[in-house]
Amino acid sequence: MTDRLTIRRPDDWHVHLRDGDMLAAVVPLTARRFARAIVMPNLVPPVTTAAAARAYRDRIRAALPADARFTPLMTAYLTDATDPADIEAGFLDGSFNAAKLYPAHATTNSAHGVTDLSRLAPVFSAMARIGMPLLLHGEVTLPGVDIFDREAVFIDDVLDGLVAANPRLRIVLEHITTRRAVDYVRAAPANVAATITPHHLVINRTDIFRGGVRPHLYCLPVAKREEDRLALRAAACSGEAKFFLGTDSAPHSVEAKECACGAAGVFNAGTAIETYAQVFDEEGALDRLEAFASLNGPRFYGMPPNEERITLERARTEPPAPLRAGRTRVVGFPDAPLAWRVVDQA
Ligand code: NCD
Ligand code: ZN
Repeated sequence: MTDRLTIRRPDDWHVHLRDGDMLAAVVPLTARRFARAIVMPNLVPPVTTAAAARAYRDRIRAALPADARFTPLMTAYLTDATDPADIEAGFLDGSFNAAKLYPAHATTNSAHGVTDLSRLAPVFSAMARIGMPLLLHGEVTLPGVDIFDREAVFIDDVLDGLVAANPRLRIVLEHITTRRAVDYVRAAPANVAATITPHHLVINRTDIFRGGVRPHLYCLPVAKREEDRLALRAAACSGEAKFFLGTDSAPHSVEAKECACGAAGVFNAGTAIETYAQVFDEEGALDRLEAFASLNGPRFYGMPPNEERITLERARTEPPAPLRAGRTRVVGFPDAPLAWRVVDQA
């Protein structure tokens, strides 16, 4: 049995770092483990321009611990009014690394999201030309569509057409939650990939209601059936180049989670790599953790893998204590002990 594992330092290809006190509290956790992270733009107001992305990147850098070795990679929040020229200039000058599409009202802070995809055709063709990845929150928001079907309906009604119309556009279907998404991404051309979160590898929808409603396990897309969780585990642990690490760590204050209308988001930044290691260990796939966590993402984004290494070891560790953030606290995932911990990083 392998009790120790050294891999290249991982990157997080989907994280919410927020702003202000929350940014200051959470960014050290991401920066400690991950060399780079794709930072989501769903602030209030959202990061829609290259100038706003540069200003946000400055705030992230200012919030980093002095000894941090961490590069934030910025994203553009697409709206119906996105200017293709600003997106292109922002990618070419390094202000943006990718653009994010939120269907309007799909999730937290997505009120400015896109209502009519056809208007973005010039943006997508510019992105395909310059090699800028499109990151998708893959859920439809039609009121008649059951919340557990939103990802599958998005694949059929939106994604399939988008892929067909943009054969050279790099597309990431983010935080996939279904067997349907695994199958779709696998069968799609090489320009289509997916990220998988730690929590969707660990919980299914029944866990959200284990003994009562558990707000800290509620996120979007919401966890699905056990068969879906098993398909996600098989995809992540396959080592296939199309599947890579994206935590979707999405902190909210304890007040915003534990209330009559709790916010969506699981906060896992402090325990993500340990959780992935546990899952890969349980699946007998520790030898493929490095591909998923540290190689497949950079390859898709056309970046070199990190040269630093981290070492994990099998050791029971208590679940994370709530993290203080300004005047509030954030409850982290998981709510059970971890089986692995990071021992060394160099
Ligand atoms: C995210 C957030 O809180 O910003 N919430 C979530 O449940 N994942 C938004 C998102 O990525 O959907
Ligand atoms: Zn997210």
